[in-house]
Amino acid sequence: MPARDPKNRLIVALDVEGLAQAEALLDRLQGVVGAWKIGSQLFTASGPTAVELVQKRGGAVFLDLKFHDIPNTVAGAVREATRMGVFMLNVHASGGTPMLKAAAEAARQAAREFGVKKPLCLAVTVLTSLDRALLQRELNVPLSVEGQVLHLAGLAKAAGLDGSVCSPQEIRAIRNAFGGEWVIVTPGVRPTGSDAGDQARVSTPEQAISAGADYLVVGRPITSAPDPKAAATAILEAMAKA
Ligand code: C5P
Repeated sequence: MPARDPKNRLIVALDVEGLAQAEALLDRLQGVVGAWKIGSQLFTASGPTAVELVQKRGGAVFLDLKFHDIPNTVAGAVREATRMGVFMLNVHASGGTPMLKAAAEAARQAAREFGVKKPLCLAVTVLTSLDRALLQRELNVPLSVEGQVLHLAGLAKAAGLDGSVCSPQEIRAIRNAFGGEWVIVTPGVRPTGSDAGDQARVSTPEQAISAGADYLVVGRPITSAPDPKAAATAILEAMAKA
């Protein structure tokens, strides 16, 4: 299980357009936040340098690139992410069992080869931008969103992944179905009274932790706050009380 210290369980989304903006946020949150999520925007703009920037300051990196390709290509990408020393990465569970197994095996092998800790390998199940109508009409999936989330997380677990990314609404069902060792990472967290932005299904930090989340991913409520340090501190305090 992950460390219980809230500082190690809050991951701040570095959704910015380049290194200068990333550095400014790292400076403002130095010593308060221990883990950072680098996603498609910053990685496309700045590449591995962004990962190094965080690591040089002692931060842990969740590389959120949601790999989804043929098994050989995903294995190669996971190998490179592991070589970079990220502590967490993710792949789309809908890539299927051979792809999921290749990802899990690549992380294990690369960690041994490069002498680094194996990253937590998470599955993305159903994007929170999809609802039941889209799932059924466009993707031809007859299940409910929760049914499909549980189905895909089950594939990921059987293939050897460590956990899944899920919306606050799905935490309890996943925790009940997959037990205490399954790592649950939850975005869509909004402190009481803050703007939900484009997140439709949100929960407070307290609710997400009480429901069984291991890690919370928070972006704009911290990064767009007038005082990011105060915003992060308030979220950490709320997590500690849950
Ligand atoms: O700013 P905000 O707190 O909404 O940022 C949440 C972060 O988590 C963003 O980087 C977003 O891409 C990511 N995310 C999400 N919902 C998902 C998966 C990832 O909001 N289902």
